[in-house]
Amino acid sequence: MPFYHKLGEIPKKRHTQFHKPNGGGLYREEVMGLEGFSGIQSLLYHHFLPPRIKEVALLGGAKPEYADFGAIRHRAFRSAELPAGGDPVAARRILLGNNDVTLGLSRPTKSMDYFYRNAQAYECWFTHEGQGVLHSQFGRLDFGPGDYIVIPFGTTWQMELSSSEARFFVVETPSHIEAPRRYLNDYGQLLEHAPYSERDIRVPQELETFADRGDFEVRVKVRDAISQHILDHHPLDVIGWDGYLYPWIFNINDYEPRTGALHLPPPTHQTFKGRGFVLCSFVPRLFDYHPDAIPAPYNHSNVQSDEVIYYAEGDFMSRRGIDRCDITLHPFGLPHGPQPGATEASIGKKKTDELAVMVDTFHPLNITTEALEFEKTEYQASWMEEDGEASFFTAG
Ligand SMILES: [Fe+2]
Repeated sequence: MPFYHKLGEIPKKRHTQFHKPNGGGLYREEVMGLEGFSGIQSLLYHHFLPPRIKEVALLGGAKPEYADFGAIRHRAFRSAELPAGGDPVAARRILLGNNDVTLGLSRPTKSMDYFYRNAQAYECWFTHEGQGVLHSQFGRLDFGPGDYIVIPFGTTWQMELSSSEARFFVVETPSHIEAPRRYLNDYGQLLEHAPYSERDIRVPQELETFADRGDFEVRVKVRDAISQHILDHHPLDVIGWDGYLYPWIFNINDYEPRTGALHLPPPTHQTFKGRGFVLCSFVPRLFDYHPDAIPAPYNHSNVQSDEVIYYAEGDFMSRRGIDRCDITLHPFGLPHGPQPGATEASIGKKKTDELAVMVDTFHPLNITTEALEFEKTEYQASWMEEDGEASFFTAG
């Protein structure tokens, strides 16, 4: 999905002299690439030497602490009640994770007053509530509700909130976050049958270049720890760049849902892929149109996949006992499907207004000790309830 983009001033040929005006010396070129010069990359031109760091300190570990899963069962978590406060990075709490991906929530109430760089993972911030600007070396990206903000490894960024609060569902992976290969042609272009096109990808359009001197803090996440770097210059000192590596945004409301005569499986909703997981978007859409169709899903044993759903908006007539901002985990090892009465209740329904993000992992997810505080322990028992409002959710 990444495509070539450039902003600002760059020399005609790479790796050549690029002079500052009025004899100010050379701009400093940085090749920033993934997979050791074999993956996507960008070339950046800085005012200051990129390795120039005044002070370094270790701030502490950043490894999630996992609890024993216990007996295999379906789990649900009430993320609406997660405490709010702090800046977006500091407010992030990881709830689930394995070696391929971590899933967390962030409810910040203020902008960042430092810069951040995750050197060990891609990050994808699904903006459920709030708005603001992602400032990075690559320029500014304005974001708002529904935006998936995708930030590659190594990007130095700072999030500014223009709302008093925000709520993000955050995915972090030590792999790329990109479009599934089946959406792309041999040239990397999104195909006609893909559920979105390049027009829906928002890329930095305005470069912000600072040549200020002074102390600036950058927190670097790598080796499962946070290092603090104090620079003697502004970290967003790029005068120009070009390449394929940069942050971008895709809004969930730009996802073009597919519908069919009969219930279509979750891959129909796939938005991105990473190593060992897929991310799907469930958006408002029409239901199946076969006269005998059942809009609710069939029971399924996703034998090799743990399924996580973040319920963002809509009528969760869906799952019984599920509220806005809840997260369910349907692990492999036991089947799941509509709760009692839900299949019948879905018959004849014409459309859904649900909005949800699903992450299916191909290896089991662990639950953090912190997530246990927000668990809805009665969730597994919901399949035993014969009374109550019948409900269904098309993904679950
Ligand atoms: Fe499912």
